[in-house]
Amino acid sequence: MNYVRNAWYVASWSQDLDTEKPFAITILGERIVIWRTAEGSLHALEDRCVHRLAPLSLGRCEGERLRCMYHGLLFNPDGEVVEIPGQELIPATARVKHYAVVERHSWIWVWMGDARAADPALIPPAVGFDHPDYVLGCGQLDYAAEARLINDNLLDFSHLTYVHANSFGTGNDFAERQPKITMLARGVRFERWIRGGIGNAAIRVSEEPMDRWQSYDFLIPGVLLMWSAGYPLGTAEALDYQQPRQEDAITGLNFTSQAVTPMGEKTARYFFSWGPHRRHGDEQMRDNMMKVAGQAFAEDKVMIEAQQRVIDETASPQIMPTSHDRGVTLFNGLVRKLVQTENAGARDAA
Ligand code: FES
Ligand SMILES: [Fe+2]
Repeated sequence: MNYVRNAWYVASWSQDLDTEKPFAITILGERIVIWRTAEGSLHALEDRCVHRLAPLSLGRCEGERLRCMYHGLLFNPDGEVVEIPGQELIPATARVKHYAVVERHSWIWVWMGDARAADPALIPPAVGFDHPDYVLGCGQLDYAAEARLINDNLLDFSHLTYVHANSFGTGNDFAERQPKITMLARGVRFERWIRGGIGNAAIRVSEEPMDRWQSYDFLIPGVLLMWSAGYPLGTAEALDYQQPRQEDAITGLNFTSQAVTPMGEKTARYFFSWGPHRRHGDEQMRDNMMKVAGQAFAEDKVMIEAQQRVIDETASPQIMPTSHDRGVTLFNGLVRKLVQTENAGARDAA
């Protein structure tokens, strides 16, 4: 798998991690157990007991520690065994890997690189349920496909015209015109005006044509943060196609945060939230939006999983990029560069 390790991967929604209920997830092929203590702290370890490889996620929380419930080895949050029932001596090798884990923007984030190098400043600025301005709904989908294919999908919205003709109903604009694309330090930014459309079916409040703005950042390791809104007809031209102010939106201001987490070689979990700004919608609108999102993301899943099956059956799969692939190419180039830097660092250290 070709993914950046020195990055924060979404492991779960905050609300899905119950107190003292160990939670298991595989990220980049590594089995991880995450737990929330009664005191409220979070810990993450390799989900594999050093004794006989039972999953620690079947274990029992004891204060800040986690006990393997097969033969009772007790682990501290650093992954060291601190108790072996019936044995005085604890070998120095009695430890499992420990991961840095942080809760922010309603997500549980795990740093897949060296825990000592974990930098919370690199957590993408998603919008969570604690944000005062947005009314959000959320969901997740498991994919039988490589995470990179989902990233590629989110980096090329020309598919909206075809894949989402029945759900979002976005029209031809996405396939016919290119967004403005800007390289960021850890991602790619997409900006576009859609002039004179009637807008996305999920957030449409009137059939009046208007100018719609849409802008998103796609950030390492695979996090999409997007806002869009409607403006009076003619705004795009008046602003010379530059970014408008959110305060000037007349309708449909909304935000979505999405994260793609590579689990195994060909499995991934896709997390998403979406909803209107409080000035532009309410719980009812959020529920409508989530219904349309559910339909749309199921459309992506059908296409991407089918694409994965064809790739798997192809002897040496080659792609032929089009002009819409620019964002895909830039992002994958950035991943390649960061992975090379990490590998070079690892070689130097060795
Ligand atoms: S496998 Fe964990 S204590 Fe034996
Ligand atoms: Fe899509």
